[in-house]
Amino acid sequence: MKWFKISGVFLIALVLSFFAGGYFSPVRKEAQKKGRSETCRETQTSSTPQGRVQNKVAIVTGGKQGIGYAIAQVLIQEGAYVVVTDINNELGFKAVEKLPSGKALFIQQDVSKEADWENVFKKTISWKGRVDIVVNNAGISGLTKGFGPQDPEHTSLEDFKKIQAINTEGTFLGCRFAIENMKKNGGSIVNISSRSGNVGVPTMCAYAASKAAIRSMTKSVALWCCSQNYPIRCNSVHPAAIDTPFWDPMVEGQSVEKNRQKIADEIPMGHMGEPNDVAYAVLYLASNESKFVTGAELMVDGGILASSGALPRVLETNQPPQKDTL
Ligand SMILES: NC(=O)c1ccc[n+]([C@@H]2O[C@H](COP(=O)([O-])OP(=O)(O)OC[C@H]3O[C@@H](n4cnc5c(N)ncnc54)[C@H](O)[C@@H]3O)[C@@H](O)[C@H]2O)c1
Repeated sequence: MKWFKISGVFLIALVLSFFAGGYFSPVRKEAQKKGRSETCRETQTSSTPQGRVQNKVAIVTGGKQGIGYAIAQVLIQEGAYVVVTDINNELGFKAVEKLPSGKALFIQQDVSKEADWENVFKKTISWKGRVDIVVNNAGISGLTKGFGPQDPEHTSLEDFKKIQAINTEGTFLGCRFAIENMKKNGGSIVNISSRSGNVGVPTMCAYAASKAAIRSMTKSVALWCCSQNYPIRCNSVHPAAIDTPFWDPMVEGQSVEKNRQKIADEIPMGHMGEPNDVAYAVLYLASNESKFVTGAELMVDGGILASSGALPRVLETNQPPQKDTL
């Protein structure tokens, strides 16, 4: 009898959670129709706010969509004021309009331009009096329209330089301005590198080089600030396979769903990540919770870098090694 009561309660809870989880929701149905998970793009900020960055002032670059937008949402949810910047003025303004009023400000910026950085810091300081957090998130892959091949044999110097200008030089400028403006009161710099900053990517040579530069630069900035007694920490976050528009050129074509499945199959956790997965890593590094963490790199990649990208067959099948397979 007691068993029946317990299992009855369990069954009701299960049914409720099934519906509450939105299994039959229009969003999910629409996503299924489109052949991809829109829910992964629309970041859910469901955890209870705890003021983890209460009243801090943050700058997040490339924040009109994807990971940058999720970072802005999460920082605001945890009590921060956020300046969102992006090269795209119109969409940037539209995106920021959806954030809580009075908590966010949009400023157009090309991160590769020094004058734009000057303007962003000037306006942020005149808005809130200081800057505590800088998230260098804006980045390009080189796989979008207007770029040629990206392998090391065929990449044009022009393409290579353009990617470095935004990813590497943009992050460098963000760090330099952050040091200048935060060295007195302290702060946290979070640079968005990539899994590609830790390994070679034969079809994205310039991108991988730029992300490796960000990884290394982060450590130099961290150590420089320590050596100068500046209370500034600098860390890098290394995402991989996060479901944002960044992936569109890589999965587009006739078999979008097949291509997405292929990506998911190669991730140890079996699925792509959400922008929020990166945003919460950034939140930790931006907050005082990470006060003894500097020069570190945090993977947000579903376990990809924990394993060798291409496991030798012998390890996959658990057979004794043969000379030519290792
Ligand atoms: N999505 C992933 O799987 C993934 C994996 C590894 C690293 N990353 C990195 O995370 C960051 C964000 O990626 P995402 O997936 O949200 O990409 P995304 O393409 O969706 O967003 C990038 C944003 O940067 C903006 N931007 C581009 N050039 C700019 C410039 N010169 N100045 C200012 N803004 C500019 C774009 O307008 C866009 O809003 C990038 O640095 C990317 O390299 C993403």
